[in-house]
Amino acid sequence: MSLQYEIKRITTAQTLPLRQKVLKPFLPVAECINPGDDLATTYHFGLFHGGKLVSISTFLLESHPAFSAGFPYRLRGMATDDKYRGQGFGQKVLSHGVEFLRSQGCDFIWCNARLKAFNFYATLGFRFHGPMFELKDIGPHKVMYKHLIRR
Ligand SMILES: CC(C)(COP(=O)(O)OP(=O)(O)OC[C@H]1O[C@@H](n2cnc3c(N)ncnc32)[C@H](O)[C@@H]1OP(=O)(O)O)[C@@H](O)C(=O)NCCC(=O)NCCS
Repeated sequence: MSLQYEIKRITTAQTLPLRQKVLKPFLPVAECINPGDDLATTYHFGLFHGGKLVSISTFLLESHPAFSAGFPYRLRGMATDDKYRGQGFGQKVLSHGVEFLRSQGCDFIWCNARLKAFNFYATLGFRFHGPMFELKDIGPHKVMYKHLIRR
């Protein structure tokens, strides 16, 4: 499959079908909305392949209590359609968001990472913080984070 793709800022509504299908299949679509999704400071990015939305990520202006960053963002809703995984689309949409936020002055990004996604985030330079914890209906997680250095 060709790696032709386009990454765009998308709306909360555009993220929901893929978010529900990949991350929260146990919830109806309407309940996959997260607090802050529609704030002006929130960014949803989508990677389109052949016009189809195949990978998404959301960044919310939110600090983590263990870190004293000046301009922190939380990554949520990172998902790639299962038919399109392992082709670099997730890395591309996440890196796009990270570089965009860096350009805005963001100095820190964190997320609650699922065990199965540890390698994915580590490959992109995220590090672990604290112990493993369990999120209901989903499974084991760890906080992962990345300091951004201004370029
Ligand atoms: C985690 C997730 C978003 C990754 O999306 P993806 O599009 O498959 O990500 P990529 O293709 O960029 O990278 C996935 C792996 O494929 C590898 N890869 C990337 N391009 C590749 C290529 N052309 N050929 C072979 N492997 C490749 C990457 O090295 C990566 O390996 P790693 O995880 O061991 O680092 C996806 O697996 C997913 O949606 N999982 C379910 C939901 C989930 O767990 N989300 C995270 C919540 S915290």
